[in-house]
Amino acid sequence: MDHTYTPEDLNAVIRQHSEWIAAQLHAQRESLFPPNASKTMRKFTSGEAAALLGVNDSYLRKLHLDGKGPSPELTAGNRRQYSAEDIQDLRHLLEKTARKPGDYLPGRRDGDHMQIIGVMNFKGGSGKTTTSAHLAQRLALKGYRVLAIDLDPQASLTALHGVQPEFDLKDGGTLYDAIRYDDPAPIASVIRKTYIPNLDLIPGNLELMEFEHDTPRALAQGSAGLFFFRVKEALAQVDSDYDVVVIDCPPQLGFLTMSALSAATGVLVTIHPEMLDVMSMSQFLRMTADLMDVIAQSGADMSHDWMRYLLTRYEPSDAPQNRIVAFLRTMYGDKVLNAPMLKSTAISDAGLTKQTLYEVERSAFTRSTYDRAVESLNAVNDEISQLIQETWGRS
Ligand SMILES: Nc1ncnc2c1ncn2[C@@H]1O[C@H](COP(=O)(O)OP(=O)(O)OP(=O)(O)O)[C@@H](O)[C@H]1O
Ligand SMILES: [Mg+2]
Repeated sequence: MDHTYTPEDLNAVIRQHSEWIAAQLHAQRESLFPPNASKTMRKFTSGEAAALLGVNDSYLRKLHLDGKGPSPELTAGNRRQYSAEDIQDLRHLLEKTARKPGDYLPGRRDGDHMQIIGVMNFKGGSGKTTTSAHLAQRLALKGYRVLAIDLDPQASLTALHGVQPEFDLKDGGTLYDAIRYDDPAPIASVIRKTYIPNLDLIPGNLELMEFEHDTPRALAQGSAGLFFFRVKEALAQVDSDYDVVVIDCPPQLGFLTMSALSAATGVLVTIHPEMLDVMSMSQFLRMTADLMDVIAQSGADMSHDWMRYLLTRYEPSDAPQNRIVAFLRTMYGDKVLNAPMLKSTAISDAGLTKQTLYEVERSAFTRSTYDRAVESLNAVNDEISQLIQETWGRS
């Protein structure tokens, strides 16, 4: 008995599925964040504000009672709550009487160069976007002037910051506009403010893929110039506006990642400590080194200020992971950051509503779960901040 089987066009099926998922996601976002409602940053408790500023809460309280600086909002229970803007205002106030310059405004001083941090690894899901988002936000909250760049066509960092890659960027607005070969736009035209003071964003979307397609063509026509310096050259236009640039790279070693690598002054390679990930990292490192040789042969300076590995989604209770961590630390020594990013449901749950852990309220989680995760993220980010300071000759 034979049965009839109707083949379907694969492209039609895939297109249909793509449209369904886009519509669903759009609807979900509309219900979570009504149209036009933009994201806002939550308020900080006085304890959190004091910790961010590195002062005692009692000192903040005194400033408030003396009528100095911004007026925090008072809750029903008469607790002081500070906005991110209040904290930034306090930085400027406190810096005026700081014991050491830069205690409250840690950014660049005369002669310090802009730090460009590329977060990379071609292994998908190794925590690049989570790392980039938390690093950029933490540095901004700590008083650095930060530009976050989404260089991944998948645009997760963009979505995390409340910009919808497929709806809000219909007329361009990604870094592609500023690095394309044909009539590039000024980079300032693709930079947008975020809901966090000191943090600007260059969003990404699928249009970034064009750079992967254009570059071989431009190279063949001899019109690509030093293609791997296009990101660096675009960033040079806004050099005086930022202390730190954080670039979230796509999970592949294409021309976009190469350009980020060539622009970077610091490179952060995220590693999930599992055997398959470590094996693929070996290939990533070899291919990266080969590519950098090729770039160096064209006379480009490939020196970096620093390069570090960051352990991500680490579970200290997992014995096989611990063996890999020990192996990596033995092999790479202090090139592995001391602080690992712990695996935490608080981080993945926050991600589900397109938020970082710095954006969600502590009350949304079991206290210990939230505290453990936030402490781990702070330790990672503050270790990177320390590297930045050392690069600028401070400790
Ligand atoms: N520390 C963590 N604890 C729990 N979940 C995490 C943690 N870090 C990342 N995740 C989750 O793991 C998934 C992958 O993380 P992320 O998107 O940061 O990786 P990625 O390297 O940027 O991925 P891609 O290569 O696709 O760009 C996400 O769902 C994220 O929420
Ligand atoms: Mg990512």
